[in-house]
Amino acid sequence: MKSLHLLSSVFCLAALALVARAANVPPLMYGAAWYPEQWPEAQWDADLSRMQAAGLNMVRIGEFAWSSLEPSEGNYQLDWMERAVAAAARHGLVTIVGTPTDTPPAWLTTKYPEVLRVSEDGKQLQHGSRRHFSTASAKYRELCAKIVTQLAQHFGKNPNVVAWQIGNEFTEDSFDDEARRGWHLWLEKRYGSLDQLNKHWMTAYWSQTYSEWSQIPMTTGRANPGLLLDYKRYVTDTWLAFQRNQIAVLRAHVEPRQLITTNLGGVGWANRFNRQLIAADYDVISWDEYLGAGYADSSRNGTGHLDPDRSGSTHDLVRGWKQKNFWVLEMPPGFVDWSSVSNSLDRGETRAMAWHAVAHGADCVAYWQWRSALNGQEQYHGSLVGPDGEPVPVYAEAAQAGREFAKAAPVIAGTSPVAEVALIHDYDSRWAIDFNRFSNRYEQLEVLHSYYKALRQQTQSVDIVTPAMDLGRYKLIVAPSLNVVSAELAAKLSAWVEQGGHLVLGPRTGMKNEFNALNTQRQPGPLVATLGARVEQFYALLEDVPVAGERGSGKATVWAETLAPLSADRLSTLSSQLSTAAGAPEVLLRYGTGNDWLTGQPAALRRRVGQGTITYLGAVVDQPLMQTLAKQWIALAKIDSPIIAVPDRVSVGRRVAANREVFILTNFAAGPQEIALPAPMTDVLNGGEVTNVSLPRYGVAVLQRPLTTR
Ligand code: GAL
Repeated sequence: MKSLHLLSSVFCLAALALVARAANVPPLMYGAAWYPEQWPEAQWDADLSRMQAAGLNMVRIGEFAWSSLEPSEGNYQLDWMERAVAAAARHGLVTIVGTPTDTPPAWLTTKYPEVLRVSEDGKQLQHGSRRHFSTASAKYRELCAKIVTQLAQHFGKNPNVVAWQIGNEFTEDSFDDEARRGWHLWLEKRYGSLDQLNKHWMTAYWSQTYSEWSQIPMTTGRANPGLLLDYKRYVTDTWLAFQRNQIAVLRAHVEPRQLITTNLGGVGWANRFNRQLIAADYDVISWDEYLGAGYADSSRNGTGHLDPDRSGSTHDLVRGWKQKNFWVLEMPPGFVDWSSVSNSLDRGETRAMAWHAVAHGADCVAYWQWRSALNGQEQYHGSLVGPDGEPVPVYAEAAQAGREFAKAAPVIAGTSPVAEVALIHDYDSRWAIDFNRFSNRYEQLEVLHSYYKALRQQTQSVDIVTPAMDLGRYKLIVAPSLNVVSAELAAKLSAWVEQGGHLVLGPRTGMKNEFNALNTQRQPGPLVATLGARVEQFYALLEDVPVAGERGSGKATVWAETLAPLSADRLSTLSSQLSTAAGAPEVLLRYGTGNDWLTGQPAALRRRVGQGTITYLGAVVDQPLMQTLAKQWIALAKIDSPIIAVPDRVSVGRRVAANREVFILTNFAAGPQEIALPAPMTDVLNGGEVTNVSLPRYGVAVLQRPLTTR
């Protein structure tokens, strides 16, 4: 009996030791994509030693390795991956395992050709590239669940696996027959009857009326706006079902310690589907930071160098999907291979880019990729070591960031950016406008960035969120192009204003309802009663028009709407979202002469409602005026963020924990900058207390101070 007791104690202790040994996600994770299946096992240790020497603490493996994990159907070969995870652990590296479902193997697509993706023009994709599967295919989902089950059973308790990545950069939707059937079923579920669909899409227009679900086209062309918006939602739901199929398998088998994520594609603003809904399913959301802006007009997409506002806003967008810190699972070490000119980041820029991500709330930075495959489609891509396995020039810079991350990790652990101002980025609205921009000069992301730049310059901390997120935590909410406003959203925003929030609506707000149909109340639709005013007409501008008011003047560019306060009588006929009385709207800006339709008409107005205010700015305005207006909104909302005054292109990110705040400065300006600090702070990277910092071009400073000193 005694010996049995002793034996069970030994077992317990052994089990405890195992649990204790299980690695957690490092507080500041730093890694690279590594493809051990591409290299002889005898070379693994040399690669891993170099990773360790560069300060990496994570490898991301497996996301394209299906043919090595299951060389023929049901023939699972997972041992090599287990040895790779163990080898990485011997070098102090934890592992993120990618499910390999972005690249189904040739035996699979040959045996089950029905899983292959079909492009919109009806062509079925062939084997040999990636993303060649249909997310809607039940067979494909079944095959995905099988391989993921094997992986989950094998690695779900592996102490060195800290996270899972589902697939890789979800992108294209498929137009195969199964997807089309799914679309019709989805519509049937949403509308219940064709009468409802015909009504909301107003299909009497151009004789579109449907008498069978199967008649409804599946297209992204110039179709009914209601159809186009619903198609985007269907695509989102299809991806959700695709990922949930795998997430369910993982949740059933893996320890909760192992986090589940997916890496959303390189241009965070991409909008093939609603990324916030995708993010909601995960423990942590990740994105891949490549430099491009995701503009509707791709010629505006940037230079291959980091623009701190563009990249910064993308990090803030990603952070907003879950309102918490995020991971960057891919960053280019120097350069990519797919740009029109795949120019290199400058010396120093790769390190600054890594720190810039952390400043905006990234708790992980990883490079794509460690070492280029000798063959395959991406031979030219930047890497940290060459085909010989020896460091390339950018390796030293990555290693410098690695040393710095290790030093700063204890200070940064547990901190996150905190913002009192939020910008609204709404997928429905983004799509609704892009289906018909009306003016190709109205580039939504450029409009949004104009607000972002002004607000961030003055607060150094802005969240970018969808209307579905928790808005209660903000004092100021700015919605630049909130085109689709349902009664439900109007009620949420109105209640928030009544309780003391300050809401700023930009042009094109509330033109459409959730079916992408015109709101009969005109803009801002169900918010007219809250605003006490409406938009009389909208105009796409070819030439700038002056705007002026008591508190500022400048130019309306690109877009102008004329506003009209409504009489009390008129307002009393509208169904109001308000529970308290509101005053008369105050006109803030009027158009000057230049365009007769606009001359003298209100361009912006504000109304006090309950404890808060609602402001409508009907024009896209020039940047100096935007700065002036943003300053007023910030003052109105009594936002007093602690900031460090810096010149343009020097970026400041502030991360906060209960007892301390950390400021991370990165200099993307053309030359060195001297920055005076508002109070003494500890220099985390160099030690000592400082009152000013000198930043060379691409220089980085990490500063901290206790929160109590404010
Ligand atoms: C990403 C992708 C990686 C790699 C990289 C090259 O979009 O996730 O697998 O192809 O681009 O820049």
